[in-house]
Amino acid sequence: MLKNNSTILFLLFIIYSSSAQNEGVAPAAGSPLTYYQHIKAILDIHCVVCHRAGQSAPFPLSSYEDVEKRAHFIQMAVESRYMPPWHADPTFRTFHNENRLSDAEIQLITKWIAGGAKKGKPAKKTNPETSGQMTPYTEPDLRLTMQKPFEIPGDNSEQFRIFVIPTNTAEVLYVRGIGFHPGNLRQAHHARLMIDTTNLLRPDDGAVAGDPKTVFTEQEIKMSEEFWHGWVPGNFPIQYPEGFGKQLPKNADIILNMHYSPTPKPESDQSSISLYLCREKPRRFVKTFALGEQWITNQPFVIPENSEIKFYMRSPMLPADLSLATVMPHMHLLGKSFKAYAITPKGDLIPLIHIPVWDFKWQMIYQFENLLKLPKGSVIYAEAVFDNTAANGLNPNFPPKTVTYGWGTKDEMMNLIFEYLDYEEGDDALNLFERN
Ligand code: HEC
Repeated sequence: MLKNNSTILFLLFIIYSSSAQNEGVAPAAGSPLTYYQHIKAILDIHCVVCHRAGQSAPFPLSSYEDVEKRAHFIQMAVESRYMPPWHADPTFRTFHNENRLSDAEIQLITKWIAGGAKKGKPAKKTNPETSGQMTPYTEPDLRLTMQKPFEIPGDNSEQFRIFVIPTNTAEVLYVRGIGFHPGNLRQAHHARLMIDTTNLLRPDDGAVAGDPKTVFTEQEIKMSEEFWHGWVPGNFPIQYPEGFGKQLPKNADIILNMHYSPTPKPESDQSSISLYLCREKPRRFVKTFALGEQWITNQPFVIPENSEIKFYMRSPMLPADLSLATVMPHMHLLGKSFKAYAITPKGDLIPLIHIPVWDFKWQMIYQFENLLKLPKGSVIYAEAVFDNTAANGLNPNFPPKTVTYGWGTKDEMMNLIFEYLDYEEGDDALNLFERN
């Protein structure tokens, strides 16, 4: 028994060390690059999370055949760094959920294609269906679904909608994990979940976000949580370690802000949310704060037609030590770049995030590598550039029109959203997202 085990371990060791040697390292001169020996491992890690059945990318990249027939397309996507989608500048700050190819990996893919995209032989039997997948999640404790399916019109319009999902809970829930499950992966562009405890927004279910006739806009309802969870293609459910959690007030409504991509034919969606509950009241709470347009120092937040303009934001002084878990900048189609940093009372600069080329499509939540301490008295600064000229290919107005604040896609926003905890000694060595 013991002997068998050690033989298996030894074999695993050989397989592991041969694949480890392949990582980003050029092969010996003369030996051809092959899919199985050099390329598959890279794609499994960096691409297959999205490019596989049941995920949102338009085609799978989990088998040789999938990859070979799109070789040149793939080369263009990786050389331009269009794929994998990652927009944060790694020289400013790196993140836990960073997904970038190294220069060596890009070269290897390019050389493999130039050499005829050879197949080679699999090292061992592999199942293309399971490659790149993670250990499955356990069943959630609670699943909440949109009250009714939403019919997405087939008129090639962007759809930006509000849905109200009542929780109907009699007690406060402590939530250790949250997942968002689009009902229509092709059309789901991104989703933002918020919490409303007034229950006044229920008539807005299915309404156009930003519509002046919604209760949300008319009564200027303030959410109890402006950002509870977010989803873009490729995101997995988050699960905090035991003892950590988010609070869901009793009888709260989850407000789902959903963006659908344009489609030429009618489609339908009924997305759902899965919740994993804490076994007992968590000792530490993951909370949110959002810096919105009111913190802009060069008011008013008006983006004149045919102009490029930079807005500066300055937060109030932080009232206590905080541990940041994630950061998420948010702008719409005129966004061009975004940078945020903090200055401590001692005058130290803490880089938070820099997105040199904003991409509306990828509203990502950036997870810090470990919890990041911002000392009491720090001030957060952000600067965002908006391009409201005709040269901006995504400009929703042609010719350009003056744009100001609003929830609609044709309006603009400048938000900087953080998930954080009250600081505790030792947080700098703690990672809330080990699982991803
Ligand atoms: C986070 C999810 C995600 C990851 C990771 C990802 N892709 Fe994609 N990919 C997409 C989505 C969604 C699309 C379709 C929308 C688009 O083109 O932006 C796409 C489109 C593409 C396209 C078509 C581009 C075009 O011009 O239409 C190629 C080629 C591609 N991906 C290759 C890759 C490769 C190679 C990797 C890994 C090195 C990768 N992708 C990683 C989600 C992902």
